[in-house]
Amino acid sequence: MKKPSVFVSRLIPQANIDELKKHFDVEVNYEDRDLPKAELYAKAKGRDALLTLLTDAIDGELLDAAGPQLKIVANFAVGFNNFDVAAATERGVILTNTPGVLDNATGTHTWTLLLSTARRIVESDRYVREGKWTGWAAMAFNGLDVDGKTLGIAGLGRIGTNVARKANGFDMRIIYSDVRPNLDFEKQFSATHVDKETLLKESDFLSLHVPLTPETRHYIGEKEFKLMKKTAVLINASRGPVVDEKALVKALREKDIWGAGLDVYENEPKIEPGLAELDNVVIVPHIASSTNETRLAMGRIAVNNVIKVLNGESPDTCVNPDVLKKK
Ligand code: GLV
Repeated sequence: MKKPSVFVSRLIPQANIDELKKHFDVEVNYEDRDLPKAELYAKAKGRDALLTLLTDAIDGELLDAAGPQLKIVANFAVGFNNFDVAAATERGVILTNTPGVLDNATGTHTWTLLLSTARRIVESDRYVREGKWTGWAAMAFNGLDVDGKTLGIAGLGRIGTNVARKANGFDMRIIYSDVRPNLDFEKQFSATHVDKETLLKESDFLSLHVPLTPETRHYIGEKEFKLMKKTAVLINASRGPVVDEKALVKALREKDIWGAGLDVYENEPKIEPGLAELDNVVIVPHIASSTNETRLAMGRIAVNNVIKVLNGESPDTCVNPDVLKKK
């Protein structure tokens, strides 16, 4: 009998690919380049499942190009703003993501950005490599204390909670904003639920963990930077468009805030002109969940979802559960 056909749109860990190959006919984009629309459509055509990255736009047009036999699109990511959820639900296509397994890696990475921004690690590393260091100085690379400061968390999902948990050793005051207060969290971390304005005004370190939705696009812009402390640091390991990047460059340049640590950008892989010239920002290329163990675990979820759905079962994770009810 002909095996179901699966297309993997970019490179993922080989162990994940090997597992898929045990069950299905699998084609992988081993070149690992972002496929232009027409190429992705051609590769999707006739497939029973697609395993995609957050760089692939999965909309109605793509789903139609794939054809009515397509049962599942499994994202190799927890975020799924690359999915048109309504279009997939309408066509009965199951969409899945990889929640839960990347909270620690992303939480740790958030802290890596926070600490390296506060302590000017990238800037001072560059200074040593460039042979500029002439000896110890009292006034060289003065950064910011982290201990005892106020950590603000925007968006208290799994990752925001993980970041808060890791603040424990730094004896920080924790404030957070979310659509729903979480009383258990407040008790456990002596945290306080605040409105957005208070979050902006009182955070020494403000870390963003909201999903990208029409409501959170440019959640931080010019007005918000003006409300923040001049000594504040902004950390973004959520999605780039949550911050107005033009306004961020202006705020960093004019010292409306002290610094920023960024994993994500508004128009990846492009970054706003001027950003890379600034010393008060740490910029890394969207790698928050990129550890060997975590990427393997993300792949395992995506692969298991494909196996389950193509065997007629429900996936372990699903971002459009309405589609399961219809089946
Ligand atoms: C990465 O950004 C993810 O959403 O998993």
